[in-house]
Amino acid sequence: MTDRFEPQSLTQTWLAPSNPRPIVIFGAGSIVRDAHLPAYRKAGYPVAGLYDPDTETAEKLASEWGVATYASAEAAAAVENVVYDLATPPDVHASVLRLLPDAAAVLIQKPMGADLAAASEILAICRNKKLKAAINFQLRFAPMMLALKDAIAKGWLGEVVDFDAWLALATQWQLWPFLNGRPRIEIAMHSIHYLDLIRQLLGDPEGIHAKSVGHPNHDIAQSRTSAILDYGDRVRCVLSINHDHDFGRKHQACEFRICGTEGAAYLQLGVNLDYPRGEPDILEIRPKGGDSWVTVNLKGASFPDAFVGRMANLQRYAAGEDAELVSSVEDAWNTMALVEAAYQSSALPATQLQERP
Ligand SMILES: NC(=O)c1ccc[n+]([C@@H]2O[C@H](COP(=O)([O-])OP(=O)(O)OC[C@H]3O[C@@H](n4cnc5c(N)ncnc54)[C@H](O)[C@@H]3O)[C@@H](O)[C@H]2O)c1
Repeated sequence: MTDRFEPQSLTQTWLAPSNPRPIVIFGAGSIVRDAHLPAYRKAGYPVAGLYDPDTETAEKLASEWGVATYASAEAAAAVENVVYDLATPPDVHASVLRLLPDAAAVLIQKPMGADLAAASEILAICRNKKLKAAINFQLRFAPMMLALKDAIAKGWLGEVVDFDAWLALATQWQLWPFLNGRPRIEIAMHSIHYLDLIRQLLGDPEGIHAKSVGHPNHDIAQSRTSAILDYGDRVRCVLSINHDHDFGRKHQACEFRICGTEGAAYLQLGVNLDYPRGEPDILEIRPKGGDSWVTVNLKGASFPDAFVGRMANLQRYAAGEDAELVSSVEDAWNTMALVEAAYQSSALPATQLQERP
């Protein structure tokens, strides 16, 4: 039984925790400034303080936002009855996790380490310490994505059989100095969000074909990816990702087309088109039985609202208010496995053409 299509009735927000714990942040870099702190202020989540070994950066950000700083990672990890928030470079996550008290609640920025071996190490630390640990795959909590998933759950698309991610934009990789010299960039740092979201919508694929390459105009290891996720013969799932479409705004795009057997959805991910300021997100649905596309009026954007929802779920899980921890380290390991398979595929030769006789 399908509900009548009422676009404004779609769920776009995560339930708020009734008594959020103070948050201790590790890292005072760009994502904390652009998304974590704005989100927590908007949601009214208290921030106890932050730690960054770059004390000048830490103190500047802390004074702008009126929060404390800690003199060491150990001092930050010793603050009790808090939620820890790791916004550290991926190869730092494990060393910070080792400092945290057993059974702590912790949010870890994506990716879950630099590769699958690092993800396995992080998973082992979290299991040993019984941490309530989740990865910051906040795209799952963007208002447009929560609405999309609600629409799918209500049957407005029928069975989802096609997922097409299409990006042609100019990403300013120099915003992230910690990426310099890394061997894995595009899939590990960016498309990982899409792979994670696809896993949530469609489950784990049987495998992946991928090719990820750089660009002659710069020395970032990879900035362009083509990928096909294998879901058998009912579902087509592709990513066409070009971060080097640097020819002005016209003809740039950052969009998903998700088609079901009876309806379809179109999404624009605005944040990437003018990162981190962002253009508006867009969600339009052509519902089952409808004869036109309908715009869902979004109540927020990926930055910062998706970060509000991400933290809400962790806080609620830690307080026993949510039964499921979304993107727990257990689940996120599978996204890392998909990333690893994509890089393995990219390193392999494609099917060779036969020689002309
Ligand atoms: N979810 C998203 O959409 C998203 C977007 C951007 C970045 N990120 C992730 O967030 C993390 C940080 O990215 P960023 O853009 O803020 O990078 P950044 O380089 O601007 O900041 C990283 C900060 O971490 C600090 N740091 C290093 N070691 C530390 C330690 N042991 N303890 C505390 N702080 C430490 C550095 O001094 C630096 O200030 C990365 O893992 C990145 O992948 C996620």
